[in-house]
Amino acid sequence: MDHLLKLADLSGAEILDILDTADRLKYQKKNGVEHHYLKGKALGMIFRKSSTRTRVSFEVGMYDLGGTALFLSSQDLQIGRGEPVQDTARVLSRYLDGIMIRTYDQEEVESLAEYGSIPIINGLTDYCHPCQVLADLMTIREFRGDLAGQKMCYIGDGNNMANSLIAGGIRTGMKVAVACPKDYSPDAELMKWASENGDFTCTENILEAAANADVLFTDVWASMGQESEAEARKKVFRGYQINDAVIAAAKPGVMVQHCLPAHREEEITEKVFEAHAREIFEEAENRLHAQKAVMVKLMG
Ligand code: CP
Ligand code: NVA
Repeated sequence: MDHLLKLADLSGAEILDILDTADRLKYQKKNGVEHHYLKGKALGMIFRKSSTRTRVSFEVGMYDLGGTALFLSSQDLQIGRGEPVQDTARVLSRYLDGIMIRTYDQEEVESLAEYGSIPIINGLTDYCHPCQVLADLMTIREFRGDLAGQKMCYIGDGNNMANSLIAGGIRTGMKVAVACPKDYSPDAELMKWASENGDFTCTENILEAAANADVLFTDVWASMGQESEAEARKKVFRGYQINDAVIAAAKPGVMVQHCLPAHREEEITEKVFEAHAREIFEEAENRLHAQKAVMVKLMG
């Protein structure tokens, strides 16, 4: 593994290996065991979009590992004034030991990897959010044990989260059911791959997707970059919500996950969110441990 560009690039064994390392790093952090595996190393963090969790967890993660992290807003970098990503990649490769990037186009992340000579980590694109889903899989293992054979259900927009959940779920042997409105399905090529490589279904019916689920996921109706569509999307997505009826359709004791930020009473009711806050905030914490594992694997 040279980069983390998208989860489908990893084998199931590689994903589980990252999760095992993440569990170990979490134990070490909680027990005050020093784990400076990246002493003297530097991570650049390029952001073209806002972030709370990704920025803070990568920065603290590098500190925990004995290295340093640089916050690089695209507004302040020459990349924001049109310097080609191919040149930025070759320059930053001479200063840094790794780059985490949050941007719009998946192609920009792929170009950084192609032209640079250091590990590139995808911190979210319009296409996928692999770091988040590694944390999600880690959290499911913590609460439910093994991943293989469990049913994951995602309700909402066929966005970056949906794509990464499909890839991560199928790679680790989970059953994956997605419910999206017509014309808002996940990536068509990825869905074809999922159907050929595992137990995958996509429907417009949320209760059908949620039936007997072990873990329920949702995400915002309008992602970063879709602000102008937000009002129109409220109409399209009405009903694509995790609420009491969806919980009742799922397995008793179902777990609920949300990558955050959440919009209460849109994709999830306040009641369900608060009833499952323990799992949701553990998921947020696990961003730190999962990403530290990724950095140790790539930069260690
Ligand atoms: N879930 C997530 O990636 O959060 P941020 O946008 O705050 O980084
Ligand atoms: N789908 C959301 C995820 C945020 C972490 C977005 O792209 O804005």
